[in-house]
Amino acid sequence: MTVPTQTLRTVAGIINSVETLEGAGFLVRRPFPKSSFSEFDPFLLLDELGPVNLKPGQAKGAPDHPHRGFETVSYVLEGRLEHKDSQGHAGLLKSGDVQWMTAGAGVVHSEMPEAEFTRRGGRLHGIQLWVNLPQQDKMIPPRYQEIPVDQIPVAQTEDASVTVRVIAGEALGAKAVIETRTPIIYLHLTLQPGASLVQPVPKEYNAFAYVLEGAGLFGAELERGDDGQMVLFAQDGPEVTIANSADAEKPLDLLLIAGVPLNEPVVRYGPFVMNTEAEILQAIEDYRNGRMGRIHD
Ligand code: FE2
Repeated sequence: MTVPTQTLRTVAGIINSVETLEGAGFLVRRPFPKSSFSEFDPFLLLDELGPVNLKPGQAKGAPDHPHRGFETVSYVLEGRLEHKDSQGHAGLLKSGDVQWMTAGAGVVHSEMPEAEFTRRGGRLHGIQLWVNLPQQDKMIPPRYQEIPVDQIPVAQTEDASVTVRVIAGEALGAKAVIETRTPIIYLHLTLQPGASLVQPVPKEYNAFAYVLEGAGLFGAELERGDDGQMVLFAQDGPEVTIANSADAEKPLDLLLIAGVPLNEPVVRYGPFVMNTEAEILQAIEDYRNGRMGRIHD
């Protein structure tokens, strides 16, 4: 009998971001989807907006658009974004706040820089992640979880060399307040030079890191991942390791995201992600006929 000894995952690949224009014309860095890498089950998209210093009047957002069949997770690192939707829901996301929106059967919403922020200009930095919903949840009523920065659990190692903000899942003894439909881990980690972390990630989860700032050493073989790169972990162990080299000039700031793959057919068309072509045609028709509602000013 052989006993598996390796617990640390290896790195399966490093994905570069592409720059693309979104919404009314703001620039994002996007590791996926792109033609060579369309999804990482159960994740459908990751966009990094900024960081960018905007002049007065320069900020742009994403005016009214629909979603069906998945979840959008918005995490504002700097700046102020406001949103409105067809259910009459409106809110403001400030630095550190998270909005976990389950679009389910459908919403029409707008995601815009706050009017006052746009007028004055300032620094904007945000992340949007799309999480697929399992077939049985695609048509559930829409739901929002809006978590202000002071309710996002934060934990540190004893020597304070690693800080984690726990958006989903659990890390360093802190447990997220957000509920997810399928098991998801979403951590914002900061490692000082010389720091390292071993994070449990159940073996059946797909896991990746996305580097926001600095450069990290990832996986059993300490592969390098830079600012704007996505590091894919192989599904070959129950732990991932991340380190910032001792001679690094700055802290390593990154997201560690993982989830149980759904293993279901994915048919996507813009803001609709379903299991069949027929369901996509239905979504387009429902949107055109106003069955996802519209925004009332
Ligand atoms: Fe949206």
